[in-house]
Amino acid sequence: MSDILPLGPLPRLIGHRGAARHAPENTLSGIHMAAAQGARWVEVDVKLTADLVPVLMHDDTLDRTTDGTGPAKDLTLDALRQLDAGSWFSPAFRGEKVPTLVEVIQLVLALNLGLNLEIKPCPGREEETAGVALTLAYSLWPDDRPPPLVSSFADASLDMARQVVPRWPLGYLIDRRPANWRQRVEQLNVSTINVNARREDAASIREYKSTGRPVLAYTVNTVPMAREVLGWGVSSVFTDTPSGLMEIAG
Ligand code: G3P
Ligand code: CA
Repeated sequence: MSDILPLGPLPRLIGHRGAARHAPENTLSGIHMAAAQGARWVEVDVKLTADLVPVLMHDDTLDRTTDGTGPAKDLTLDALRQLDAGSWFSPAFRGEKVPTLVEVIQLVLALNLGLNLEIKPCPGREEETAGVALTLAYSLWPDDRPPPLVSSFADASLDMARQVVPRWPLGYLIDRRPANWRQRVEQLNVSTINVNARREDAASIREYKSTGRPVLAYTVNTVPMAREVLGWGVSSVFTDTPSGLMEIAG
């Protein structure tokens, strides 16, 4: 086994999509909110516009998190920036824009946050999304800061990530555990295993940890659930509400 690439110190809490319960997800306001609530890391979802600009967005379509409709992949950056990505959440966030990855990295660095970049490609663009987004991220990231943790549900995105940022830590992100998970963990030399808290238990977390990697669990929004999964040996939880879980932040 090759040496597992080190991470910066892992916090107990990672703001999920920023602080998705308190501000529109995957926006600059959401990242500010997570930091204001005491989160030391944030997780965000990255995909590409039609003109290949990495931006933050979770869904394949615009409908839920903007005032646009239809597939996100069909819009250029200029068109996407005309949309309102805040009003759907609250009038207080009217005029919020879909942020570019460049803006997000600048903000995360300015706020001194750790970053988990989840590559969230649309079908058929897994390699391209990882290649474009991580080439850009690598060009912007200072050598003297712990690099982002890069995760994806998509095998092709993780394979590409390993090529583009060979010295950055990867997170093996899963929902239902695939049969070949151990093989992939070793082959990709991931640094963390990121799991769905609702599908796991103490025994499965022990299995993941037997590979020598910390386990991160999503999405945990109550103190009792956080205490339970941390009790199983999970190192960090992704939460929509950093303020709501601050008592277990450690
Ligand atoms: O990266 C953890 C978690 O964000 C994965 O699920 O659907 O919230 O992106 P999702
Ligand atoms: Ca995500």
